Amino acid sequence: MARVFITGSSDGLGRMAAQLLVEQGHSVVLHARNQERGKQAQAAVPQAESVVIGDLASIAQTRGVAEQLNALGTFDAVIHNAGVGYRESRRVATEDGVPHVFAVNTLAPYILTALIHRPKRLVYLSSGLHQGGDASLKDLAWEHRPWQGQQAYSDTKLHDVLLAFAIARRWPDVLSNALEPGWVATKMGGAGATDDLDAGHRTQVWLAVSDDAGAKVTGEYFYHMRRRAPNPAARDAQLQDTLLDACARFSAVTLSK
Ligand SMILES: NC(=O)c1ccc[n+]([C@@H]2O[C@H](COP(=O)([O-])OP(=O)(O)OC[C@H]3O[C@@H](n4cnc5c(N)ncnc54)[C@H](OP(=O)(O)O)[C@@H]3O)[C@@H](O)[C@H]2O)c1
Repeated sequence: MARVFITGSSDGLGRMAAQLLVEQGHSVVLHARNQERGKQAQAAVPQAESVVIGDLASIAQTRGVAEQLNALGTFDAVIHNAGVGYRESRRVATEDGVPHVFAVNTLAPYILTALIHRPKRLVYLSSGLHQGGDASLKDLAWEHRPWQGQQAYSDTKLHDVLLAFAIARRWPDVLSNALEPGWVATKMGGAGATDDLDAGHRTQVWLAVSDDAGAKVTGEYFYHMRRRAPNPAARDAQLQDTLLDACARFSAVTLSK
């Protein structure tokens, strides 16, 4: 049985993944943005081992999440699931001065990857919208471009694939993969979502714990437990390194070789 940490497990696909993992007998540590959401997360998944707290929009709090987690020991798998959607109608700057969606969807998984004791497997939640992400990686903080919420989201979801593949290349002892869950009716997806909600959380669980040969790969992109071709830019090692360097500059957190 595995020990798994899931970011953003107070709701949606993260909470569903946590529920499925504990049903399968795995040990799960949850994550929520604040104490109140943490209590709700623990109540929804009472078999969970514990909850760590921190708002991923804040670099300081994201560092705190890594510290809390490391105090609990090591994990077999970490699922970078937390995310915010594509409906932000203006550039919302965080306390660190970056767009909120970039902070939560890009910087936080980078910081946590860098600071959490290295697990055996890493799983990154992307989206089909990453195909339209801006592969120039210019103006990551949207200081020069006119704001477009959906483009900003798509960019961050391309970053998540770049991050997964960068880690797969740098850390050959770790299985690091990305996936798209489909457009499903969570808080983020909205009521009109057309994909199968019950399939939405299964791929992240499978990649985190399954002994299937198909799940024990690295540097791959999945949809519903099948490989799918990612945006070809995500395979560009130079672009991967450009993103890592940019995240290191924004966060002042360095990723070990
Ligand atoms: N739903 C879809 O159709 C869809 C499609 C493609 C990709 N995805 C990806 O799937 C992942 C999960 O999405 P979902 O649909 O399950 O979304 P969701 O229902 O909105 O859940 C998102 C989770 O992330 C947490 N979170 C968001 N911002 C946070 C912050 N600043 N600090 C800490 N926690 C934060 C939320 O906490 P609260 O509950 O407190 O808000 C919640 O637990 C995301 O990465 C998303 O990009 C979803």
